[in-house]
Amino acid sequence: SEADPIFDTTYDMVVVSNRLPVDYVGGDGADTRWKVSPGGLVTALEPVMRANEGAWVGWAGVADREFDPFEHDGISIVPVPLSEDELEEYYEGFSNDTLWPLYHDVIAPPSFHREWWDAYVRVNRRFAETAARVAAPGAVVWVQDYQLQLVPRMLRESRPDLVIGFFNHIPFPAYGIYSQLPWRRQVIDGLLGADVIGFQRAADAGNFSRAVRRLFGYKTRGTVLEVPGADGEMRHVVARHFPISIDAAAFEELARTPEVQQRAREIRRSLGDPEVVMLGVDRLDYTKGIRHRMKAFGELLRDERLSVQQATLVQVASPSRERVETYRQLRDEIELMVGRLNGDHAALGHPAITYLHHGYPRQEMAALYLAADVMLVTALRDGMNLVAKEYVASRYDDDGVLLLSEFTGASDELRQAVLVNPHDIEGLKDAMVEAVNMPPRERARRMRALRRRVIENDVANWSATFLETLTGVGKIPGGVSDA
Ligand code: F6P
Repeated sequence: SEADPIFDTTYDMVVVSNRLPVDYVGGDGADTRWKVSPGGLVTALEPVMRANEGAWVGWAGVADREFDPFEHDGISIVPVPLSEDELEEYYEGFSNDTLWPLYHDVIAPPSFHREWWDAYVRVNRRFAETAARVAAPGAVVWVQDYQLQLVPRMLRESRPDLVIGFFNHIPFPAYGIYSQLPWRRQVIDGLLGADVIGFQRAADAGNFSRAVRRLFGYKTRGTVLEVPGADGEMRHVVARHFPISIDAAAFEELARTPEVQQRAREIRRSLGDPEVVMLGVDRLDYTKGIRHRMKAFGELLRDERLSVQQATLVQVASPSRERVETYRQLRDEIELMVGRLNGDHAALGHPAITYLHHGYPRQEMAALYLAADVMLVTALRDGMNLVAKEYVASRYDDDGVLLLSEFTGASDELRQAVLVNPHDIEGLKDAMVEAVNMPPRERARRMRALRRRVIENDVANWSATFLETLTGVGKIPGGVSDA
């Protein structure tokens, strides 16, 4: 076939994700400017890509712009263009107003629109075609997340030589919820094109296997699914959990720098040097339980179980999906609540809540983590929640209390956190008071145990385990079992 000058390089390892690790900010040609894009996925995969010299296929974060492949910080970037309509129908629509709420246990009602589904199929095909063009013969292609669930099947059809992995970064819901999806068979069939399908929690993998049995009647043995192939032969597909993580050593190293420690002291001073700094860090998303945590904190101030001289809450809410209506509404609700709580409870020099609608560089995040006595992670549903792991990794001083929702993937591993059900406001209030008053020895005991876990299962371990499973499948008869 004719050589395509833009895609004349092929790679043995290709990662495909909706968003590239960098978002386009502005400029043209040599003046084009990029910034690191938000979210846990990029945090997790960037170190893996640096180590593997692969190509990263994804969208540059802006509509109606085409970019040639380029190198960024040692990573080969292959941009996939999206039109303004596709941005609305595939990204804001089907991905973030259908699948996102559905997969997060319908905390917000999902919208089902046939035009959105058509755009999802069309855009998934474009990602699959781009990945097929840059993948060397026999390459490993690793597809990421709910925006691209049809890509594994499309790739297998056009490139049966490839080894195809898929990792779902968000929860996979119980069948009673999943089955609402009008395209429930097509999505599962799309995923079953992969050799290994990874999930965050064992419960997610279980939900997926049950959906496969209910919708297709295929046999499953533990983590191995028997899927009929194109030739009538049985393929063995592995579906199991691989809990994602962070570069724990890098966070610790950052937290140990004198600049970050100085900055942590400055942060506390600027908050009026309260006894206790509580911190929340989230994308501004209705799955994160930001309102629940503010409500609980407000009631503690109202009931005088806490005072603003004693305790203050810093809430970082990074802007996210701002054109989706549920996100706009949430922003209004949160900002109203912040205004009320400060109006009712703050004193001069002693804010109740400091609300920051920004994303911050890693350096500033590490300083915030060090400055925070109590970290509040109160998500109503969360695939993993890497903020919890970042907090723990930063606390090389074995201090600080992690308050963690049971509805996060992280709670499967981080058992020594103060675990909460964020829907139970009274329970949440008691847990916040317990965290504020926890004796230093108990804080240290818990933090040491949490740190052991995060350092042991860091992101390098996560990707190595997934990729070993992926490249081992096919060699081992019956796939890999869940030991
Ligand atoms: O893991 C969930 C996820 O949707 C990622 O796929 C994504 O990179 C991140 O959150 C941020 O979301 P978005 O790309 O929609 O801004």
